[in-house]
Order: sequence, then C-alpha cells, then structure tokens
Amino acid sequence: MGDDVTVRAGQVLGQAMAFQPAKLVLAGVRLGLFGTLAQGPLSEERLRQRLGLHPRGCDHFLAALAELGFLERRRDGTWANARVADQLLVPGDPASLSGFLRLADQVMYPAWERLADGLRTGEPQAATYSGEDMFDQLYDSEEHKDGLVGMAEDASRPLIPALTEVFDWPSYGSVLELGGCRGNVLAGLVAAHPHLDARVFDLPQLEGDFAAHMSALGMAGKLGFVGGDFFAGPLPEADVLMLGHALVDWNDDQRAQLVKNAFAGVRPGGAFLVWDPVIVPEEESYLRNLLRSLNLQLMTPHGKGYTLAQCAAWMREAGFDSVEHRSLGHDVTLVIAHKRA
Ligand SMILES: C[S@@+](CC[C@H](N)C(=O)[O-])C[C@H]1O[C@@H](n2cnc3c(N)ncnc32)[C@H](O)[C@@H]1O
Repeated sequence: MGDDVTVRAGQVLGQAMAFQPAKLVLAGVRLGLFGTLAQGPLSEERLRQRLGLHPRGCDHFLAALAELGFLERRRDGTWANARVADQLLVPGDPASLSGFLRLADQVMYPAWERLADGLRTGEPQAATYSGEDMFDQLYDSEEHKDGLVGMAEDASRPLIPALTEVFDWPSYGSVLELGGCRGNVLAGLVAAHPHLDARVFDLPQLEGDFAAHMSALGMAGKLGFVGGDFFAGPLPEADVLMLGHALVDWNDDQRAQLVKNAFAGVRPGGAFLVWDPVIVPEEESYLRNLLRSLNLQLMTPHGKGYTLAQCAAWMREAGFDSVEHRSLGHDVTLVIAHKRA
C-alpha cells in the first residue's frame, strides 16, 4: 500500500512538474546552446564564456540535458550535441524545430502560465493578438505575417506526401484550397498531379506572397490565386474544395458557416476535404490533440479543436452526402465529404 502510494506520487509529480524538463530544452534553445555546440564540442568553461552563463547552475543544467538525451559528455570532459540535437535543434537547418520552440518559449509558455484564467474567462491569454480578427491584425505587420506563414508551412509541409496519395485526385479536375496561404501545399499537390486546375483562395493581403513563392518554387503560372473572405459568400466553384489547418481557428457557428459556404462551391459529384488535428478518442493522438485544442484557446480569439463527430455533423447539415476520414500522419486527420452527383 505504502509502496503503491510512493509509486503514484512519483507519477503525479512527473506529470505535474513536467514544466521543468520542458524549460531545460527551451532554455537551451533560447541561450543558443545547441547552435553553439553544432560548431564543435566545448569545455564547460568555454561554453559559459560563449553563452554568458554563471557557474552556479551551468554544470547541472548541462548534465540534466544530457540525461534527457540532448547532450553528450565526451571522454575528454567536453560537451557535445547528441545526434537528435544536431538534427532538430540547430537554428537555420531546414528540419530545425528551433524557430517553433522559440515561439513556444516566448509566446505559448507565458500563455499556459495563465491557463486557469483562460479556463475561467474563455479569453485568449497570449500577448500576440487580441480582438475579433486575428488574421487582419497579424497581416498588419510584415514580421507577424512572415511568422504566421512560416509556422503554418512548417506544420503542413510534412503532410503533403500523404495528401497526394490518400485521396483519389486523378478522378477530379479542379481544386480550390480555402485558406491556402502562399500555396505551398497546393504546389506540392500539383507537382504530384499536374492535371489539376488549382487555385488558392485566401485573404487579399497574401496575393503578393503567393506570387513570390510560386516564382521561388518554379511554379509561376501553374496555380491561380483568388483573394477574398471565405465567410463572406459565394466561393469560386471547383470539383474539390479543401481547407487545411484552418477550421480549428474558428468557433462552432463560424465553422458550420464555412462548411456551408464550401458545400455551395463544390460541384455536384465533387468533394470537400478538411484536415486538422481532429480529436479522435480511439486514436493515439487523442491527448496531444486535446492539448493542441487548449493551446488554440489560449492563443486565438475563437480557435478550439473539434471531434470527428462534430465535423461530420457540420458536413451532413451543410448537405454533403457521405463522410469518411483517413490519417495523414503527424496527428492530423483528413475528413472527406462527398456531394451527390
Ligand atoms: C493556419 S493558416 C493555414 C495555411 C495553410 N492551409 C497551411 O496549412 O499551410 C490559415 C489560413 O487561413 C487564411 N484565412 C484566415 N481568415 C480567412 C478568411 N476570412 N478568408 C480567407 N482566408 C482566410 C489565413 O490567411 C491563412 O493563410
């Protein structure tokens, strides 16, 4: 009995104090530790000089990061990045998570500190944007716009290969991606299925970024851009309308409206594709997607995760005939709604 309680106390403390190991990694990123060690191993003293650290905590900070698997101590006593840190935590590398983790440290962490307030009030707790329309506010500044575009593309890039494969694209001729941003996902789709007549539909502020990105990808002229507000009313028609990492940004009434607008835009016999970190209780992603949902509630005016059953209900209420779903990996579910021919 006593042992049982001791084991459980260890488990409870492991969960409740998980901010400590989290902060070790985030502080390593913020201090530039992994970028510095990417240039070669260093003694603790040299590391302290390079990063401006006080001797009091540095030795245990490095040893704890080694225990977590991010650093290695060499035989000669110097410190080096472990392979995983070299692969994923060095700034500037295309696969690096350091940009996202900086944002997590500077914006999400302080917002999570106010989780209890967010739960009491339902109000977002991040300092980044407030008010009704977060996108207008974000697009007021080039820096914020680039930040959002970069983060959105980092999140959607890994999904492109699965998205090109799990849906029967050869059976459809045209696709319109709502909230398609600079067209990064759609360009990948068109590269795999060049027969598609493909257009992005997004806020007019993104048209210049779309054109520049298409040129950079060597896809200029292969995809179109339509500027507009997807809540405002008749959307351009296509065989397939798609909405990725975007339905989560809105409240239930807005989502139902968006799905209705999409229904009107899908040609008979066509389909509406939605992909998001959908909350699916039977799946391994369940807890992670609940946490993502709470993160959205803290970070955005309206955002919240939703379940597969909710999404299917919005789709059926809008008039779609049948709804199915597939995994795109990375905790993301593709929900496919078919419109009767
Ligand atoms: C989180 S981003 C997702 C971008 C892209 N689908 C991806 O996953 O890489 C949401 C997108 O929705 C767009 N958006 C937001 N409000 C919109 C509106 N009212 N009408 C059209 N697009 C909108 C934003 O500009 C942004 O590109």
